[in-house]
Amino acid sequence: MRAFSSFILLASIVPTVLSVKTQDFKTCSQAGFCRRGRALATRASESATSWKSPYSIDPNTVFIAPNQASFTASVKSSLYPAISFGLDVRVHDDGVVRVRMDEVNGLGKRYDEAASWALIAEPKISSSIQWKVGKKDVRAIYGKGVEVVIEFEPLKVTLLKNGQEEIVLNGRGLLHMEHFRKKEEPKLAVEAEVPEEGLNADDAQKVVKLENPRAWFEGESEDAYWEESFSSWTDTKPKGPQSLFIDVTFPNHGHVYGIPQHASTLDLRTTTGEDPYYSDPYRLYNADTFEYLADSTMSLYGSIPLMHAHSTDSTVGVFNAIGSETWVDISHPTPKSTETYWISESGILDIFLMPGPTPKDVFAQYSSLTGTQALPADWAIGYHQCRWNYISSEDIRTVQKKFDEADMPVDVFWLDIEYAEDHKYFIWDKKNFPDPVDMINDVQDTSRKMVIIIDPHLKRVSSYPVYQEAVERNVLVKQKDGTSEYEGWCWSGSSAWVDFFNPASWDWWKTLFKTHSLGDGKFSWVESTENVYIWNDMNEPAIFNGPEISMPRDNIHYGGWEHRDVHNINGMLFSNLTSQAVMERSTPYKRPFVLTRSFYAGSQRFGAMWTGDNLGTWEHMAVGIKMVLANSIAGFAFSGSDVGGFFGNPEPEMLVRWYHVGAFSPFFRAHAHIDTKRREPFLLDEPYKSIVKDILRLRYSMLPIWYTAFRESSVTGLPVVRPHYVVFPKDEGGFSIDDQFFVGGSGILVKPVTEKGVTEASVYIPEDEVYYDYFSQHAYRSAAKGKNITVPAALHQLPLLIRGGSILPTRERPRRSSTLMKQDPFTLRVALDKTGFNARGELYLDDGTTYSHQEGQFVWKEFKSEKQSKNVIKISSHDLGSEKPTEAVDGVALTTYDGGNAFAKSISSVRVEKLVVLGVASKPKGVKLGGKELEWEYTPGVGAQESKKEGIASVLVIKDPKVAITTDWEISIQL
Ligand code: GLC
Repeated sequence: MRAFSSFILLASIVPTVLSVKTQDFKTCSQAGFCRRGRALATRASESATSWKSPYSIDPNTVFIAPNQASFTASVKSSLYPAISFGLDVRVHDDGVVRVRMDEVNGLGKRYDEAASWALIAEPKISSSIQWKVGKKDVRAIYGKGVEVVIEFEPLKVTLLKNGQEEIVLNGRGLLHMEHFRKKEEPKLAVEAEVPEEGLNADDAQKVVKLENPRAWFEGESEDAYWEESFSSWTDTKPKGPQSLFIDVTFPNHGHVYGIPQHASTLDLRTTTGEDPYYSDPYRLYNADTFEYLADSTMSLYGSIPLMHAHSTDSTVGVFNAIGSETWVDISHPTPKSTETYWISESGILDIFLMPGPTPKDVFAQYSSLTGTQALPADWAIGYHQCRWNYISSEDIRTVQKKFDEADMPVDVFWLDIEYAEDHKYFIWDKKNFPDPVDMINDVQDTSRKMVIIIDPHLKRVSSYPVYQEAVERNVLVKQKDGTSEYEGWCWSGSSAWVDFFNPASWDWWKTLFKTHSLGDGKFSWVESTENVYIWNDMNEPAIFNGPEISMPRDNIHYGGWEHRDVHNINGMLFSNLTSQAVMERSTPYKRPFVLTRSFYAGSQRFGAMWTGDNLGTWEHMAVGIKMVLANSIAGFAFSGSDVGGFFGNPEPEMLVRWYHVGAFSPFFRAHAHIDTKRREPFLLDEPYKSIVKDILRLRYSMLPIWYTAFRESSVTGLPVVRPHYVVFPKDEGGFSIDDQFFVGGSGILVKPVTEKGVTEASVYIPEDEVYYDYFSQHAYRSAAKGKNITVPAALHQLPLLIRGGSILPTRERPRRSSTLMKQDPFTLRVALDKTGFNARGELYLDDGTTYSHQEGQFVWKEFKSEKQSKNVIKISSHDLGSEKPTEAVDGVALTTYDGGNAFAKSISSVRVEKLVVLGVASKPKGVKLGGKELEWEYTPGVGAQESKKEGIASVLVIKDPKVAITTDWEISIQL
């Protein structure tokens, strides 16, 4: 058992057979509300066509606000005529529809704050909506053929596009908001008329037999209404049943994606119906699912209730802002339609319908709600070296030295929990780390950073100032009585948890990270520096002796809310506050780096995530890619999985392949369990060591591409790594592909190998275009409808292709860390498209650490290749930033950034040292920058325009054109 023994005897944690303890976690049938939800769906499907939702709008209550802003109405359920619900539907400026429903004047209050934690701001309501109130419905047409219709009886909300149904709420009649009731309420107290039309003869008979007029809908028994046991735990439910079920149907979309985090395919599979792939719904309940399965709907560490539905015609999205445990059933009544059913334990209905119609639009719509991925510090997208644990200051220094001796780049060294005395975070174990600040400074001296873990469990000893201060401020989570401090077990033994829902904890938490003394005996982390960044782990929260390794659901948070209401949001608040703390400790503010294991919608604003404790197996390596893609769909672009696998000792071949996976993940970190053998890349034998060195260098050479992709993500909400359906939304052949993907908008297509003994790989090319092997420059062709090609993929090879029509900026000088590359020159790879002339790319640069880019301190270039005339290719660089280029002289603008752009000035001597043009049709007659001849070399090969020909492409290398990266310039290639 992980629980008690694990923090005492770490070595005993890993059993010989690694497999999740399924008995520690609930299946749907072990969770009362999920049982109720599924049973309701079964009753509905068994009564087939006669089923009718009991919920309807009272037409007399329909109210359109004078400014047309929103539509509200009172909703009744024929089951409980005495209970009222309020419905509010509004359309935002960007066409997103928000549907809210809550119980009105009930015996209790449902949790209604989930959206307030997820959203960046209260969305602006559209002023151009015209609601039309009819006898049977209310409707509004807006935008380009988008229409929202709210039908009265039964209640049904439909989003249509050009008359076609895109998203339907309660179309299957499964909506149910269990109202608050008194425990002693007799079963048949309410004299409800059973709606005749809602029942067929059989059902009616059943009802009579059961003598319960509501049984047709709610079932015969009050299943787990007031108390529920699981394993040795009992969940008291003082508020009784308060679940929320809602069916969401996409009648014209055959593929759904999102709702991370699950170790599963990107294209979500069926969980119900005739031939379900999974028997349990996808579960969203943040949990420390130790040794998780590589193919399962089980919960993992984070939850984002966001789903895309996709077809060749359109993409739409649904964000269900709910903080409690939620299960999602999925089925496909036809290959081109999808039914989903969301079963939540508590909370109001607060659901956002995103009309798309393209994936790009849905990303924009979702990020206008919950924000975009925070632009990370540039060093944070370099390589991170972690293990549990580097055991001393000397260990850190030695590891750093070994990286340098092996000439391997690395940006960050990490410290796991063993740095902290008795796992009291912030407090150094001085036996092994006698000189923490010196150690941190030694790392800083080589232009690298440190990341140190701060977990949320506070050791309950009075000598621990952090715990003591939390007690004094009364900011700890409470037991179910609402007053006594909750105590549980984690790494530090008997522990307590800060309640970050309590605003009184916020400023205090931030002060802990100050690196100077606060005086008055107040604790701050003086034994750290601003070169230390933070890792937040175990924030689901993980509690070894708690139900499902987490917190009892009847614990009480600020405002009297039960833990069950906020469980999935809890982890985000911890990384939110930590990230603010790290940002605000510097003057002026610096971009924070906080890695979190638990997350919710909006967590992307606060840093990076990783997929937790994966196993060192090929299956886990493969599913890690899918998980990163699923997170990316749900807005959390800065994600990755432990390179090498957390558990186990990967053989060298596996480790090499895992470095490929890591080098093409937005977040690239190697990590390993305390019981594993050391496996830093410099320890590998040849040829593995050199291969990994090359992989690390490849990542570093491509950092400009990654940073540009991150920047785009931080502005548009588009993910950093993009699956096929996002880039080619009309190509059905790519809709289920999740083992290859594109890096930003760069045109890089990669398919890491995740199987043993592979020498070649099949890569899907989605379009009729030339794709070049990144390393060999082999030109591959596809077909209009897409095609699989075979590429070499021996261990030293990576299936990495450049889409014809792309220009890639790279920095090819090997350095020890990314910070040392800031003045390095650029290489531009110009991969001509099948016309033989065109290509395009972008480069975004800023100082990489501060927020000065928000004041215009950045350089943003567009590179273009185009046909100037029949025989001339023109390659040019233009500014996409705010400042206007000055007039060009001899093809080079003197200076583009002569204003207040200190950053541009700081890199004014950074030049383009080389252009590599792939696929030029014939040996050029000349290459000129303005009127000046440049030095170049041409190797004949396949031309981009030779649509039927494959083979090594022609390569034109233009040597040192002596143009600064900040300037605008034009190079012409005379054919
Ligand atoms: C958890 C984390 C893991 C970490 C360990 C010790 O298992 O997921 O990454 O090394 O705790 O802190």
